[in-house]
Amino acid sequence: MPRLLPELLAEAGQPEVLRFWEQLSAEERRLLAAELERLEPGELRAHCEEAARARQRHTEPRDRLMEPLPGEATGSSIRTDTESLRSWRERGFHEISENHVAVLLLAGGQGTRLGVQYPKGMYDVGLPSGKTLYQIQAERIRKVQQLAEEKLSKKCTVPWYIMTSEFTLEPTQKFFTLHNYFGLVKSNVVMFEQQMLPAVDFNGKIILEQKGKIAMAPDGNGGLYRALTNNKILEDMDRRGIRFVHVYCVDNILVKMADPAFIGFCVEKGADCGAKVVEKAYPTEPVGVVCCVDGINQVVEYSEVSQATVERRNADGRLTFNAGNICNHFFTVDFLKSVTEEFEPQLKRHVAVKKIPHVDEKGNPVKPETPNGIKMEKFVFDVFQFSKKFVVFEVLREEEFSPLKNAENAGNKDTPSSARRALLWQHYRWAVQAGAHFLDQKDNRISPLKQFPDTEEPPAVCEISPLVSSEGEGLEKYLKDREFRSPLLLTEQAVAALAQGQ
Ligand code: UD1
Repeated sequence: MPRLLPELLAEAGQPEVLRFWEQLSAEERRLLAAELERLEPGELRAHCEEAARARQRHTEPRDRLMEPLPGEATGSSIRTDTESLRSWRERGFHEISENHVAVLLLAGGQGTRLGVQYPKGMYDVGLPSGKTLYQIQAERIRKVQQLAEEKLSKKCTVPWYIMTSEFTLEPTQKFFTLHNYFGLVKSNVVMFEQQMLPAVDFNGKIILEQKGKIAMAPDGNGGLYRALTNNKILEDMDRRGIRFVHVYCVDNILVKMADPAFIGFCVEKGADCGAKVVEKAYPTEPVGVVCCVDGINQVVEYSEVSQATVERRNADGRLTFNAGNICNHFFTVDFLKSVTEEFEPQLKRHVAVKKIPHVDEKGNPVKPETPNGIKMEKFVFDVFQFSKKFVVFEVLREEEFSPLKNAENAGNKDTPSSARRALLWQHYRWAVQAGAHFLDQKDNRISPLKQFPDTEEPPAVCEISPLVSSEGEGLEKYLKDREFRSPLLLTEQAVAALAQGQ
């Protein structure tokens, strides 16, 4: 046994972790030792003790302190005059063309609800093109760079930072290599790893998933701030001259990468921190709400709010807490520096009580039927409280939010098919707005729909490559007054052919 391991574990108050040591193979011993050596004993002790205490802790419901957001903190892509929208977009494109903007993907989650063994970004929701979430996002970055270059006649780069975890780093790296970084320059895609922490039982003891393996979990998407420091990411951003970062989560098929309107809005308002929201679809929708708690703007997560509060309505019938967080955040690099240098240790740890597979005293595997352990997580949005100027940007759900959370079971929302449909409806709308006519099996024109029922398939299948259009712009020249049979796959090659009148 490596000499320091027993000392390390004694100091952390966790000597039982080595109870099966004698039965482990050389390789199992090596892996366990490597996992343990990454943990600092003092921190490990604090983590386990805090987790056990947190289980006992009565969490003070914050409901009675919650108030809707004050109007002046909110901007909107829906309720704004076209001139303001145009000026925000111009400002956003200007910052992009100056190489001031980066995107940062939170991709360290385990995708438990979706139930796949690989990173969610590699998921193919069944689009005609077969594109995965990672590919769609990569192509949207290429397009926003290209649009900024065209508008400001300046070559530019939007670097893509991808936070992974022990679960997702290697498969993500391999996937990007296999697909040649989807046409992006490799050095502009920076992958880094967030920390993992042990899950503990209700007595504060580390759970062994196997005789030689600790049950580890990523430390939540708020692990970002620690990971930025550990991996010197802000130094990398400084070297590149980045000033603004668009942070987003992996599973939203409609995400607008480095959205110029959002970036421009936040920059024009002098914000150090911003969040995009959509109007909640139904009271119990699993989205956090952006609101004011005890005078401070923040997100209250769906798992931490009472049923009565989520169902509260105003006199006009609208939900009182209506600003649904879509996990699209804006930060200035200066703000991220203040968080990593000063505020990170103050971030609250949220407790998740879970069923964690483990081994019993004899080393036999057990799949618990009731919760038996605790995982502690930090949340990415918990830094909003440290902001000097926080703004909220309201966007249209059908244009910007359709998350892939759950596996395809009857009754489930936010599934592969709902994500696929949301994207295909969006592209169908864009095509119809650009003047396209779709034909049915008998070559009759399908009359375009005024309403878009998102529970049904669109009347014609149309998928538009992000490399062709990012928000429905520039399509008229290919589509206006032309007839198409379904499915229409509008790739770069297809539009080149259309441009030549074929
Ligand atoms: C998240 C938001 C919720 C929002 C919803 C919108 C948080 C804490 N919650 O909820 O307010 O309404 O999205 O869809 O942000 N991740 C990591 N490391 C981790 C855990 C998660 O990088 O340790 C990443 C995931 O890969 C994912 C993102 O964070 O990209 C969101 O995680 P997820 O667990 O899916 O959050 P939700 O509960 O859906």
